[in-house]
Amino acid sequence: MTEAKAGIGILGAGWVGLVTGACFADLGHDVVIRDVVPGKIDALRAGRVPIHEEGLPELLARNRDRLSFTLDAREVATNADLLFVCVGTPPTYSGDADLSAVWTVLDELPAETQATLVMKSTVPVGTGDKVRAALEARGLGHVAYVSNPEFLAEGSAIRDFMRPDRVVVGAFAEADGLALAALYDGLETEVVLTDVHSAEMIKLASNAFLATRISFINEIANVCEVTGADVEEVARGMGLDRRIGPHFLRAGIGYGGSCFPKDVSALKQLAGNSGYHFQLLNSVIEVNELQKRRVVGKLKKHLGHLAGKRIALLGLAYKAGTDDLREAASIVLAARLLAEGAEVTAWDPVASPRDELRGAALCATPLEAVTGADAAVIVTEWDELRDLAREDVRSAMRNPLLVDGRNLLDPLAVRAAGFAYEGVGRPTSPFSALPETEEPEPRVRG
Ligand code: UDX
Repeated sequence: MTEAKAGIGILGAGWVGLVTGACFADLGHDVVIRDVVPGKIDALRAGRVPIHEEGLPELLARNRDRLSFTLDAREVATNADLLFVCVGTPPTYSGDADLSAVWTVLDELPAETQATLVMKSTVPVGTGDKVRAALEARGLGHVAYVSNPEFLAEGSAIRDFMRPDRVVVGAFAEADGLALAALYDGLETEVVLTDVHSAEMIKLASNAFLATRISFINEIANVCEVTGADVEEVARGMGLDRRIGPHFLRAGIGYGGSCFPKDVSALKQLAGNSGYHFQLLNSVIEVNELQKRRVVGKLKKHLGHLAGKRIALLGLAYKAGTDDLREAASIVLAARLLAEGAEVTAWDPVASPRDELRGAALCATPLEAVTGADAAVIVTEWDELRDLAREDVRSAMRNPLLVDGRNLLDPLAVRAAGFAYEGVGRPTSPFSALPETEEPEPRVRG
C-alpha cells in the first residue's frame, strides 16, 4: 500500500461508484462520493444503502470515518488527488454507449482541478482521446487522464475488487499509469499497464467474450435438446480442458444485467462505426434474445395455447444475488406471456419491480406464486428455489409443470416427485434420447 494515502473522489454514487468508494476507504483512503441525486446523498449520509450488494452496508458502516457524501462537484474535484468517473454509460437506441453523463462530469470540473481523472465507466475505444481534447479545450490540459475499467460482477463486487484477476491501467504517460497502479499495491494481483485505447478495448472485449461463451453454451444446449446429450455433462467435460476452462459455461435463459447486453452492443456499434462489421457479435446478441423466448415454446409444448393459463415466474432479477432487473429475462417473458393472454404471477426475494412487470401479480412467497398455476418457470437461480419440487408445491399447482431456465433442479428427482420437467439442454431421462433398442435377434449360424 502507498505510504501517504491518496484522497479519492468518486463521481457517481451508483453501484460501481459505491463499491469502488467503499473498497478504497477500506484500503485506508479518504473518499468523497458525489452524486447529483439529493435523495441518494441524504440516504447515504443517514447510513442507508440504496442498492443491494452483499457486504456493502457493512463495508460502508465500517469505514464511515473515511467516507463522506456530497452533491458538490467542486468540493470533490478540488480536494481529491484522484477523481474516479463512475457514471452510467447506458445504451442509446442505436446500441452505442450514451456518454452524456461523462461529458456532464467534465463540464462540472472547476478550473482549479489538479486531480488525475480516472475513467472507471465502460466507454468506447477512443473516449480517452476525446476526454483529453475536451479537457484541453476547457483549459484543463494539465489534468492527467487514466483508464481503469472495472470488472466487478454484481453480488461478488467487493470480492472482485479486493481479489481481482487483474487490474487494467491505460495511460497516455507511463508515470500517470504507474501512480494509479500504486493505488492497488495492497492487492495481490497483476497490473496490466498499457495504453488508453487498449485498456478501453480490454474491458469491452472481456465482456463480449464472456457473453459469447454464454451464447455458445446456450446453442450447444439447444442442440443437446434435439440430440439427447446433457449440456451439464458437456460443459463439465469441456471445462476440464485447461484451454477452455470451466467458467461461464452455464447454459440457461440467456445473459442479462447492466453490462453484457450493453457492452456487447457497444462493441458491435463501435466496430460498425469504424467500418468493421462484427459478424460474430450479431449472432451472440440474437442467440441471447432467442434463448429468453425458448421458455415460451417449452410451455406451449406442454400446455398448448397459453391464453387463460396461469404461469408463475420464480425469480425476477437477471441473476441471483442482486435486485437488479436490467435486461432480465423475466421482463421479456412476462411481456410475452401476457401478450399471449396468460395470467402471470411473480416472486423474487429481493427485486421489487415497478413498471417492468406491469400486469403481473407480485407474490410474497414461491408457494403463493405457484398456487393455481399451470406451470412455474425458474428464471433466477435463487437458493430458495432449490427445494421447489415439494409436495405442497405440487398439490398447490393446477398442473405440476416446472420449466427450469437455470438447470437448478435435478431432473430425475423432480420427475420422481410427480412434476413434469423441462430444463435447458437436458434430456428427458439420462438415456431417453437413445433409440429404443430391440433385443437383438439371436444370430442363426448355419
Ligand atoms: C458482468 C461481468 O462479469 C463483470 O466483470 C462486468 O464488469 C459487469 O458485467 P454481472 O453482469 O454483474 O457482471 O454478472 P455476471 O455474473 O457476469 O453474469 C452476467 C449474466 O450472464 C447473468 O444474467 C448471468 O445469469 C448470465 N450467465 C453467467 C449465464 O447465463 N451463464 C454463465 O455461465 C454465466
